[in-house]
Amino acid sequence: MSDETVQCLAHGFGEEIETLERGVMLNGAPLPFDCTRQLNAEQPFRPVFMRLEKSGYRVEPDLGDTLPEAGFAIVLAGQSRDLNQRNFIRAWNALPPGGPIFVAGARNGGINPLRKLAQQLAGEVEAKPKYHALALRAERQGKALALPPGLENSDGFTIPVGAFSQAGPDPASRLLASHFSDRLSGRCADLGAGWGYLTEGALKACSAITSIDLYEADWRALEAAKTNLSGYAGGATGISFHWCDVTTEFARKPYDCIIMNPPFHAGREAVPALGRAFIETAAATLVPGGRLFMVANRNLPYEERLSALFRHYEMLADEGGFKVLLAIR
Ligand SMILES: C[S@@+](CC[C@H](N)C(=O)[O-])C[C@H]1O[C@@H](n2cnc3c(N)ncnc32)[C@H](O)[C@@H]1O
Repeated sequence: MSDETVQCLAHGFGEEIETLERGVMLNGAPLPFDCTRQLNAEQPFRPVFMRLEKSGYRVEPDLGDTLPEAGFAIVLAGQSRDLNQRNFIRAWNALPPGGPIFVAGARNGGINPLRKLAQQLAGEVEAKPKYHALALRAERQGKALALPPGLENSDGFTIPVGAFSQAGPDPASRLLASHFSDRLSGRCADLGAGWGYLTEGALKACSAITSIDLYEADWRALEAAKTNLSGYAGGATGISFHWCDVTTEFARKPYDCIIMNPPFHAGREAVPALGRAFIETAAATLVPGGRLFMVANRNLPYEERLSALFRHYEMLADEGGFKVLLAIR
């Protein structure tokens, strides 16, 4: 959530919001005015969830499809149009007639479709632009709206709306998984595991895996991973799921192999430091001789970290704009 978005909301409607009671905030983020007392926040992305907790908000990763009735609602728009729309409808349905809904987002992000939706539903929408963001205020009217599905199915996988590779397996992850065949063994971890595609590929291709731990910051993706891997539950391979910010709260454990397609975006911005932090976590937790299998866009600058932290690394593939790298600790 950009700082400009929350500043814009504060500038447009902060004073009014401070006077309201029993609010709900979806895709929540700490707000620069006094409202922790009257808000229940939802935030599935672990780093922002932790910032909310630290700032004194009541926060859950998921408040359910049907929210308890609220006196007012705040929706912060993120990158996914579908998820923004879903959050708007959940918030709208939780309000009594006339209850105010406040929406804010970056002007080059998902705010415009929400503005249109609010106009269709409420007629009158107050709009307050500031910086590169826009804040809106509308009032609930009419009947409750039908909620679009929160999960999609693709290639036999359950995928949450708004998660990474919502439309089905990512081409870079497919390329990495095509290099697993019997190469992984022992205690494994999947860093930034998403909805479980790489873990599923690893379990299918490598019978010598004894356990695999999934670490993922997006609560909704991790819940879907539990569904996608349910066929392996109770089998010989131990599988565990960790809702975790890999860059700040990873607890080191001895691993023989790590697989990952690390994130390299925060919002719309490319942040290669995020991928480098994943490489550092992998290097710190692998046993001597342990192996890291990773994929990345071929232009991302990860080799310096690999050569500094690993005994040896090599490129297993360079295809379709992606590179598959194997590094030995
Ligand atoms: C490029 S996607 C790969 C997802 C999955 N492994 C796949 O191949 O389909 C990177 C994943 O890292 C997650 N992620 C982003 N920042 C994270 C963080 N700080 N800690 C843990 N996971 C994070 C994202 O939510 C996303 O699911």
